[in-house]
Amino acid sequence: MSNVYMVIFGASGDLTARKLIPALHTLDCEGFLPSELRIIGVGRTALTKKEFSNKLFRGVQSYSRATPEGCNRWNEFADRLDYVTGDYDDPDTFQVIRERLSGSSRIFYLATPPSLYATIVDQIGKAHLNKSKAGWARVVIEKPFGSDLESARALNMTTHKVFDEDQVFRIDHYLGKETVQNILAFRFANTIFEPLWNRNYVDHVQITVAEKEGVGHRAGYYDKSGVVRDMFQNHLMQLLTLVTLEPPVCFEANGIRDEKVKVLRALRPVEQVVLGQYEGYPEEEGVDRDSRTPTYAALGLSVDNWRWKGVPFYLRSGKSMKEKISEISIHFREVPHSVFEEASNTRVNHNILSFCIQPDEGVHLFFQSKVPGAGMQTATTDMKFRFSDSRASLPDAYERLLLDAIQGDATLFARADEIEASWSIIDPVIRRYEESTEPNLSVYKQGSWGPEEAEALLRGANQGWRICCD
Ligand code: BG6
Repeated sequence: MSNVYMVIFGASGDLTARKLIPALHTLDCEGFLPSELRIIGVGRTALTKKEFSNKLFRGVQSYSRATPEGCNRWNEFADRLDYVTGDYDDPDTFQVIRERLSGSSRIFYLATPPSLYATIVDQIGKAHLNKSKAGWARVVIEKPFGSDLESARALNMTTHKVFDEDQVFRIDHYLGKETVQNILAFRFANTIFEPLWNRNYVDHVQITVAEKEGVGHRAGYYDKSGVVRDMFQNHLMQLLTLVTLEPPVCFEANGIRDEKVKVLRALRPVEQVVLGQYEGYPEEEGVDRDSRTPTYAALGLSVDNWRWKGVPFYLRSGKSMKEKISEISIHFREVPHSVFEEASNTRVNHNILSFCIQPDEGVHLFFQSKVPGAGMQTATTDMKFRFSDSRASLPDAYERLLLDAIQGDATLFARADEIEASWSIIDPVIRRYEESTEPNLSVYKQGSWGPEEAEALLRGANQGWRICCD
């Protein structure tokens, strides 16, 4: 194999120190990182190679799954590192990179603020770095990919002027989570669930991605973005597509992504929307005092196709909520006639299948069983599978995604049409509240499950929001 360079733009930033380098370090410790791989950090902050490596070492100490002490390979890993100081719109920066990359395969990682993506891609093209005579060239683009449909289309066009689609890897770290990939394994490596996976048996589906933390130090980005752009366009829509897509013919990038696009196109325009903002958000550092940015949203969606017609999908996500929990729960229909209710006067609960994405990663199947003793009372029982029972720790999403990008496997990355299809659903939701003069934000208490109005969304379906994993 020729040398392979990973060129990280935005290398002096947070993402590089907290996620990218710790993931690469763990891959190295576990023997997965190709020995030919070199890493060049590019940033506007002037750093020597030594300063860069010291800064990354601190990040690895705090965030790497494999600790430097435990694995004892930091010196070898640091030998792979190099740093280039430069502006992203300066052709000279790219000439310096060009000299280092000569004769090598390369993977560019855009970890800068999104406003710089187009400039960097353009400069890569101008410096003719988008092709490698000796091997291959790829680009990984971090989220957010655009801030609405129009800007996402424009960014796709700019990118396609320089790279072919099969060179482009749009990252959504939720797809790298083991528990998210497990949705596909669960659905398509088993025969017993798939016959139930449709409108005949499923009453409704809930997807919750709740966060305990508030906006933290990211107000500059978040206050312009809000929860709908930050979480729904990408992570929640990805979860929804994995639950609803048709079985692909094979487990291969375009096979999976074709099915995702089909189901995104089958989504009806969103009608049910509840928006919230946590109490005290406008007083957070860096937030506009009159901010009307939603930090919570709950949406009701429907998928207009043969399999899902009439099944409501309820999605919610927010910051400063009671707990950090991500869960997908499939609520099955009630039994058509409950013989036991009459006998025991107790309500028979419907079956629920719960994918606990995080924390306490696993799958739970809730079913009814007899309460021992006299009479015929039933109670809900939890049949559970926990990843932690068989593994000490799960790989971080970035470990999986970086390795896939290095190996050229785009299955867990979003394709251009997929991104645009997702924005087509989300864009009208955003426009409706951004252009509205009506008060449309409910304030919710920090540490709660969100605004009361979101409960009403589900009450129509005679249900409540489920809390993982009870
Ligand atoms: C990011 C969002 O994409 O995902 C953040 O920008 C959010 O606002 C984060 O906190 C959540 O990721 P995770 O993996 O902690 O659920």
